[in-house]
This record gives sequence, C-alpha cells and structure tokens, in this order.
Amino acid sequence: MSGDQPKDDRGNARKLAEGLTYLSGFGNEHSSEAVPGALPLGRNSPQRAPLGLYAEQLSGTAFTEPRAHNRRSWLYRVRPSAAHPSFTRTDNGAIRTAPFTETVPDPNRLRWNPLPEPAPGTDWLAGLWTLGGNGDATQRTGMAVHLYHANASMDRVFSDADGELLVVPEQGGLLLRTELGLLRAEPGHVALIPRGVRFRVELLDESARGYVCENYGAAFQLPDLGPIGANGLANARDFLAPVAAYEDVEGPVEVVNKFCGNLWTATYDHSPLDVVAWHGNHVPYVYDLRRFNVIGTISYDHPDPSIFTVLTSPSDTPGLAGVDFVVFAPRWLVGEDTFRPPYFHRNVMSEYMGLIEGAYDAKAEGFVPGGGSLHNMMSAHGPDRETFEKASAAELKPQKIDDGLAFMFETRWPVTATGQAASADHLQRRYDDVWQGLERHFRP
Ligand SMILES: [Fe+2]
Repeated sequence: MSGDQPKDDRGNARKLAEGLTYLSGFGNEHSSEAVPGALPLGRNSPQRAPLGLYAEQLSGTAFTEPRAHNRRSWLYRVRPSAAHPSFTRTDNGAIRTAPFTETVPDPNRLRWNPLPEPAPGTDWLAGLWTLGGNGDATQRTGMAVHLYHANASMDRVFSDADGELLVVPEQGGLLLRTELGLLRAEPGHVALIPRGVRFRVELLDESARGYVCENYGAAFQLPDLGPIGANGLANARDFLAPVAAYEDVEGPVEVVNKFCGNLWTATYDHSPLDVVAWHGNHVPYVYDLRRFNVIGTISYDHPDPSIFTVLTSPSDTPGLAGVDFVVFAPRWLVGEDTFRPPYFHRNVMSEYMGLIEGAYDAKAEGFVPGGGSLHNMMSAHGPDRETFEKASAAELKPQKIDDGLAFMFETRWPVTATGQAASADHLQRRYDDVWQGLERHFRP
C-alpha cells in the first residue's frame, strides 16, 4: 500500500479494515513484503538491501536473552528510523507513568464508571487517561492501566519506549496502522503493540472507547499449559500479525514518542510507517477473545481464575507474573453442589477488572461496560449481596453464561491510583455498599 497520508475518512478506513489479510501464529518467525523482492533472502543485512531500502533491526529483548524469549524484527524501509530531527517535550495530557506517587496506595476497593465524553477532535493518544499502575518504567518493571475515549482519528504517529501496549476496545472499531502493517481491532478483540513499534490509530466508528494495559516488564507470552496439555486457552494460531504495508508520504508528519514517562514530539519530513518488508517475531497482533478456549470444572468447585489467562508477562520468579491478562469469556457452568459465581477471596495479587460487554456474574449492578474496579493486594471482595443470595439458592442446572465479556489485568504489585483517578467524578463513592447487608446466617 502506498499513497497519500490518510485523512479521517471512517468509511474508507472501515472498507480497508474489513479487507485485511493476516499472518497467523503467536511468536512465529513471520515474514512479509509489500513489494515483491523487497525482503532479502538468506541474510538480514546485505551490502545493499533490495530495491534501495534500508535494513534496520528492532530489538524487543536484549540480544542475548534465551531463544525462547528473544524478540526482534528486521525492517526494510524507505528511510532508516535514525533519519529524524530532535524530539522536544510536549504535554503529557492525561498520561501518567510509573513510579506512581501522586497518591498513596489505597487498601479500599475502588470502582469507576466509564470515562466521560471527550472534547471534539480528541484522537486516541489525546484520549488516553491513566488510572494507575505500579513498578518503574525506567527499570522495565510493572504496568499501567489506562482508559481511552476518542472521537477523531490520529494524524500523528505514536510509539511507546516504556512498554508494550495491550489495547482492549470496548466501543468502536480501530484501524491500527503500524510499522509492520495494518490491524483491525473491534470490541471483543485485543491488539498487542510491541515496545517501540510506531503506529497510528484511526477510528472505524463515530467514537472509540476502551482499556489499555501498558506492560513495562517482559513481553507478554502465552502461559504454559501444564497438565492441560498441548491445546487450550488462547491458541497460538488465533493471534494474527499484519502483512507488510507502507505509507509513501513525503511531507510533515508529527511523531510522538513516550519515553520514561514523558511525551516527546518531532516533525518528520516523511511518514515513519515506511516499512516495505520485514521478518521477525517482534510484531503486533490482534486476537479475538471469542476464540478463547475456556476451561473449567466438570465436577465441583471451580478453578482459580488463572485458568482464564490469555497472556502473561513473567517475572524472575516462576509463576509470579508482572501482569496477567485474563478473560471471562462465555462458558457453561455445570459445577454440582458449588457456589458458581466467583467466590469471596483476598488475593496477594492486585486485580483491575474491566467489562467489554454484558454483565459479570459476580456483580449484579454498578459494574458497567467501560467501567472498572480495582481490588488491590489483600482487599476482600467477591459477589455482591444480591448475587450471593441468588447463587446460594439457585437450582444447579447447567447454565450458559453468554452475555458478558469481562477481563482482568492482574499484577504482582498493588496498583496506585493517579491523582486524576482518585479524584475523578466518575469514581463511585459508595462502592463498599455492594457488600452491605450480607446477613449473618450462623446461629449455633
Ligand atoms: Fe478477585
């Protein structure tokens, strides 16, 4: 693909998005060329790259990390990334970065309504609003929870040196024009943009709303399956990578770079989305959460929600994730003599939950699509009173839960809210009331 820089034309963007083709398989060594012959064969850096292109490596891991975790891609582009003017600081908007020190970590259970309407002309980047997070972006540990609400397509290009971005659309489709090609992400999909990969977000509908996990730590990978075996949960083949597509744009393009918590901007004299061919495994993906193979009990009780892990960012301690992305997808409940909704619990991990559509089976009210709840380390939570009463008395027939799609960013460290999240008008001030009125039944 080549031609003019795209205008905010949703009809055209949707037509383009619906015709996209992809490469299949998480972690594969993919390769693609938008022009035949653009991809060199048999070597990465020939004396002269084909068609007058520049060869460039983009490393997502240290050169020497174990092969199973190593991520890098080779890009063959019109101009090397190095050809750019100086970056200067620009306004961070509502984006905040770890370490989060605007408020103290809060043991209270917190819940927010959806973000309010943005001002006209708010693009995806301007619409990013940070709820909180943990760790330290400069140490490449921890994560941030962001939400977005946008009503305009980006003209500018963005990249995040601080982490990879897991985008979870809740309303409105997105066309992601990345250095490696185009992805379409609709509500119910997630898109994963690797650290440092440049991209532009164009809207496919009137507005777009959703969530973002910014993962400062080790790149997300598929969880090990242990006794589950070789198949199940998120299957590798359902992760779709783009095919090469480039913009041949000469003229001013604003490029915004998030670096150690601040936004920096530069005006290039060309589009940096000019990669004509590439190969490698440091690539963006889109994944349809409805493809998730949900595994649960067929006898009694139910497994811990780790059974719903889509992607995990491992830490140095086996089994202890920097952050897990977990989905509560449509599934059957068949447990006998079992309290079927999520049980009451206190968790050493901290849980941010969001809702993409429908309702969540532990909360009858107040947890709405576009909203979210934060249950920090050791905070007690579980079903609300109404759900508890109903589920304790329910006749235990097989039951299909098919009207909801909830997810969780679960992290090893408490999530500290930003100042704007702690004081937001859309913070629910009486969330604790959800657990009011849980009656005493024990009368020895
Ligand atoms: Fe929980």
